[in-house]
Amino acid sequence: MFVSDDLNVNSQGNLTIGGMDTVALAKEYGTPLYVMDEDLIRDNLRRFHGSIDRFYGGKGMVCYAGKAFTCLEMCRVVASEGDGLDAVSIGELYTAVKAGFPMERVGFHGNNKTDEELAYALDNGVGHIIVDNISELHRLEKIAAEKGVKAQIMFRIKPGIDAHTHKAVMTGQIDSKFGFALETGEAFEAVKEALSCENTDLVGVHCHIGSQIFDIEPFEEAARVMLRFIAKIKAELGYEVKSLDLGGGFGIKYLEEHDPAPFENYLERVSAVVKAECGSLGISQPFIIIEPGRSVVAPAGITLYTVGARKEIPGIRTYISVDGGMTDNPRYILYQSEYEAVVANKASQERSEKVTIAGKCCESGDLIGEGMPLQHAESGDILAVLATGAYNYSMSSNYNRVPKPAVVFVSGGKSRVVVKRETPEDIIRNDI
Ligand code: LLP
Repeated sequence: MFVSDDLNVNSQGNLTIGGMDTVALAKEYGTPLYVMDEDLIRDNLRRFHGSIDRFYGGKGMVCYAGKAFTCLEMCRVVASEGDGLDAVSIGELYTAVKAGFPMERVGFHGNNKTDEELAYALDNGVGHIIVDNISELHRLEKIAAEKGVKAQIMFRIKPGIDAHTHKAVMTGQIDSKFGFALETGEAFEAVKEALSCENTDLVGVHCHIGSQIFDIEPFEEAARVMLRFIAKIKAELGYEVKSLDLGGGFGIKYLEEHDPAPFENYLERVSAVVKAECGSLGISQPFIIIEPGRSVVAPAGITLYTVGARKEIPGIRTYISVDGGMTDNPRYILYQSEYEAVVANKASQERSEKVTIAGKCCESGDLIGEGMPLQHAESGDILAVLATGAYNYSMSSNYNRVPKPAVVFVSGGKSRVVVKRETPEDIIRNDI
């Protein structure tokens, strides 16, 4: 009935998430509110690591991409599932440290890590650092030497794969700010240099070909390209890279017409490619890392708003204004990303009209979507926007000094706040 099976309608006609009444949640915690189903998050993580066990003999690891959504409690959930974490800033690393996350299971990413971040990662025992460029290798080598440690590194490679996705999230092509290019020989030269470094140990190669990808072929192709690179390193430099990190990017269902492959199919097919290629290239099967972000959390989250003004502009459109907007979900203004919406207290009714959902910022582009099918919404109704668990809270801002919403987890029929709602006082906390 909705984009996520986790959502349903109860006997009062209200939308439920994880079996809990969203109208009651809005009343209890206020709006705007992010609600996430912890049980579904855990289930998604298990499906990913379970598929590594099933199709690749357990020789791999899930490093959940925290950029999709993280906070202390999310780190605790990921840690308790036995998975790893992909972190991309000192803030994400700090969150993991403070949550007591096992830092040896953390991979540190970023195309322009600062010296402070590299030092922080080493001081806190981060498992591996995914080096993006040669100057980072040099800086890391120096910082590791000063600390008397050996950093485990991987290289981020641009495998040159067109993943048929939105241009703004295409990161595997040559015209990208991320990683070393294969085609130009840059990546190979970097490997040669890394092998002569004393304080870094090249344990793996990494690629990430984009995000919200529905097809499995680009992932298979990326695996082939990367394995050929590993074989070339072995043949020409006599060194065998142990780990292959294939990044994230698995698509999810935002709209009814989206039809992503089940996550299990991804590992099933990519594992088969890896095994076959390793056989024909004469290399050992690498340890495989995957970094799903969106697919773990997006389907598990919704955002609840209270409807304010309704403006019907005859012959033009109807605006439904809500008490949030681009500050809690900037994805429409950035990428024209489409979402499904439901009037949570009228969830059993037909979606009888098409509306533009507008936020409360002083910005005409502050929209959650246009032409969205919706039940007849009036002031005071609770509006739910679905599948907002990824890249919403994590991309939220305080534009117009709007305080950020709270995040509530539901699990086993209970709810709890995992990130408190910001107050106006929080807005001025760093002001002097
Ligand atoms: N690994 C690396 C190195 C990445 O750069 C990313 C995402 C991921 C893993 C996780 O990808 P996922 O499984 O979530 O697709 N803000 C954009 C998405 C940017 C993704 C950037 N990198 C959005 O809202 O669509």
